[in-house]
Amino acid sequence: MDLATKQLMADVAQLPEIHGESLLDHLSTTVVVFSSDFRLHYINTAGEVMFAQSNRHARGKGINELFVNAGRLVAHLGDAMESGQVFNQRACRHEMTNGLTVIVNCTYTPVSLSGGQTGIMLEMRKVDHHLRVEQEEQLIAQQEATHSLLRGLAHEIKNPLGGLRGAAQLLEKEIPDSELREYTRIIIGEADRLHNLMDRMLGPNDVPNMQAVNVHEILERVRELVLVEADSGLRIIQDYDPSLPDLMADPGLLVQAVLNIVRNAAQALEGRGEIILRTRVQRKFNIGNKQHRLVACVEVIDNGPGIDAALRAKIFYPMVTSRSDGTGLGLSIAQSLVNRHQGLIECDSKPGETVFTILLPLEEET
Ligand SMILES: Nc1ncnc2c1ncn2[C@@H]1O[C@H](COP(=O)(O)OP(=O)(O)OP(=O)(O)O)[C@@H](O)[C@H]1O
Ligand SMILES: [Mg+2]
Repeated sequence: MDLATKQLMADVAQLPEIHGESLLDHLSTTVVVFSSDFRLHYINTAGEVMFAQSNRHARGKGINELFVNAGRLVAHLGDAMESGQVFNQRACRHEMTNGLTVIVNCTYTPVSLSGGQTGIMLEMRKVDHHLRVEQEEQLIAQQEATHSLLRGLAHEIKNPLGGLRGAAQLLEKEIPDSELREYTRIIIGEADRLHNLMDRMLGPNDVPNMQAVNVHEILERVRELVLVEADSGLRIIQDYDPSLPDLMADPGLLVQAVLNIVRNAAQALEGRGEIILRTRVQRKFNIGNKQHRLVACVEVIDNGPGIDAALRAKIFYPMVTSRSDGTGLGLSIAQSLVNRHQGLIECDSKPGETVFTILLPLEEET
């Protein structure tokens, strides 16, 4: 057997620790170690999430108790163990006994367990993970670029606008004819409208008032507001995870962000349909390329017609709207408010199901 691989892991328990957790528990990759008789020796935290059971509980279980139709997997693990070679396999589909099916890139590494026994380490990386990180990084970069463009543009527009407004005011005082003053009033009114539009495009500019916030209180506030505006045919269902801890946020800004999303859903439903507000906690979750220990995941799901296919890729840009009375600023403002909390809004839509997911880190990134 290849010496390098043999010495890779004398015992998982002896690996260096960070904040009291084994090094492997800090990986977002699932790591599973089997003994030579294909019984589970160890799973890391990412594996606990994937298999929905704890390392302590799963230890000693046979491979058939974790995977459905484990025959092929057993053959691969056996091959790697016998040959003493590391090998990789791309895009393997595994069905777990907990009902989850994953498509993962796998690495099989023979290892030596404590007591000299031979074992095998299986690393599983979700295939869609890289794709998602790439897309999110792109989204974050795109939003930052849009925001700084807007900031520059707003500055350039607001300055001459102030001059125009001031000049119109002076002119108004000099004009004796009240009919002509109507024109100066139009100039002043339109200058104010443009000024307000610029302010709305940039979103609230105050320093956020950060405090411990219960996400469910925010959702309840939004739910009340939207139900008051809506017809009686609209139902808003709460599917809350009670274990969700408080997060540090500005409650006013968060209400505004969530309200913009839920209001869109209510408008898409045209008064008849269902919105689900769902909260979940995700452990070791990536937002862009940053991994967070805990992330609050808030989903706003509606059973409306879905987002117009032509608009789907652009809905977070300002001024993109399909509604005659819409300004197209709701989502762009929501996104920039959530960004200010180091979070991200994602969207997935098909006819009959539109899901907006708000991801908010609950702790500092690790
Ligand atoms: N839940 C949804 N279902 C279907 N389409 C949606 C949904 N949410 C957003 N959209 C689409 O995205 C567009 C942009 O939304 P956004 O909130 O940014 O602007 P708006 O609602 O049109 O205007 P504003 O919010 O400024 O009044 C909407 O016009 C709509 O076409
Ligand atoms: Mg809107």
